[in-house]
Amino acid sequence: MPDSQVRLDFGFCTAQGLGPNGLAAADLEGLSRELARVHQAMAQERAQDVLGFWSLPAMGEKELEPMQAQARRLAGLADTLVVLGIGGSALGATAVDMALAGFLRHAFPRQNGMRLFVADNPDPRAFGQLLEGLDLKRTAFNVVSKSGSTAETMAQFMVALERMEKALGHEEAVKRVVFTTDPEKGNLRLLAGRDPYACLEVPPNVGGRFSVLSAVGLLPLMCAGHDVKALLAGAARMAERCEGAGLMDNPAYMFAALAMHYWRAGRNILVMMPYATDLFGLAQWFAQLWAESLGKAQHRDGSPALVGQVPVAAVGATDQHSQLQLYMEGPQDKLVCFVSLDDYGREITIPAMFGDIDALAYLGGQTMNKLIASEAVATAAALAKGGRPSLCLRLPGLDADAMGQVMFLLEAATVAAGHMLDIDPLDQPGVELGKKLTYGLMGRKGFEDQAREMEALDQAGRYLV
Ligand code: PA5
Repeated sequence: MPDSQVRLDFGFCTAQGLGPNGLAAADLEGLSRELARVHQAMAQERAQDVLGFWSLPAMGEKELEPMQAQARRLAGLADTLVVLGIGGSALGATAVDMALAGFLRHAFPRQNGMRLFVADNPDPRAFGQLLEGLDLKRTAFNVVSKSGSTAETMAQFMVALERMEKALGHEEAVKRVVFTTDPEKGNLRLLAGRDPYACLEVPPNVGGRFSVLSAVGLLPLMCAGHDVKALLAGAARMAERCEGAGLMDNPAYMFAALAMHYWRAGRNILVMMPYATDLFGLAQWFAQLWAESLGKAQHRDGSPALVGQVPVAAVGATDQHSQLQLYMEGPQDKLVCFVSLDDYGREITIPAMFGDIDALAYLGGQTMNKLIASEAVATAAALAKGGRPSLCLRLPGLDADAMGQVMFLLEAATVAAGHMLDIDPLDQPGVELGKKLTYGLMGRKGFEDQAREMEALDQAGRYLV
């Protein structure tokens, strides 16, 4: 097996590695049988093209060319790209860009590609500061909204457009905008019918949080100079592995099986803790994928479900000094998924100094690489000693290929977990109500009932302490 594969290490979930809380052979056999049924269901969904994200890695030149053409065009007009999108329209591009260009990417000039900002919150402080800090004549905007109706994204677009029009005039402003949206429907299509906005498509069968390998993630990543072909190639290799029927050969099935086994055993929280600061975005992306896909009130047949596992994004070793105390000694309600790197892409040796102080001398001459790797293993071992399970996604290194592999694995695992819970992981009915009440508060036509409902709820000042 080539070394470049992302591997799932589940030693600390087994009876051998963990003791009584670990999976025994009989547990694995039961899960194997369950996953065989899941496999049949997913194979059928793939055949019926329900899982649109599954075929994205196989995209060829023909599908990539419209995105490449926009990336080239925008690079000729601007040196900064701002993505306006939220949730699944934002987190994937952020995760990959943070992983490949670094957590501190905005602090230093880019070596190649455009600067990339993903503005996912209509927070007037943060968004205002971003717009005021940009040279709008050298900035392009990628408005990403599959529905074209998301209030946060559309408000940001309207603000940005007005400022660009003031700086450059309407025609030049329009040139600096690309819409990524549904091929036919929605407000962005409506606007593109009035003005010559460039448009890229989100395939109708690809939902927001599964869309990182579509134009949603790929255009911003191309603009930022990342190797999207390597990203897709890594995902394609993982897709092949995730089509395997056997639990022991299929890392997505194993991830889902372990997470759901422990959820059923009362482990209601899944912590994703990469030992790499640059992978914090991956943990945040995964948190949305797992939460929005699996947190559901109803089973597929409409019967009550109330299921889901709470994802938490953490970073090692940083959160050893923040959250680990809780994970070590708090309630036995967590499963931890570490993410490790075999190769950090650089090595730093700690200089030999303070030889007369034993508590510092041992560090001298060793590498920071060995320190962080030792901390990851030691933390997993310490958790295991307390009967607390963990698994580890082992990445060979941090490059586009590895990101493609791990993101695809987690998408496939999410769908498999959805089958184990017997819920639809592709919908998100629970976010609709809050949206409608917001429309009511904002005075949108057709939402007068919600406006009245909110008025009745208005208790402004009555319970202030
Ligand atoms: O994963 C999802 O489906 C959601 O998080 C959406 O991506 C998010 O609500 C934004 O939706 P839209 O792309 O329609 O603006």
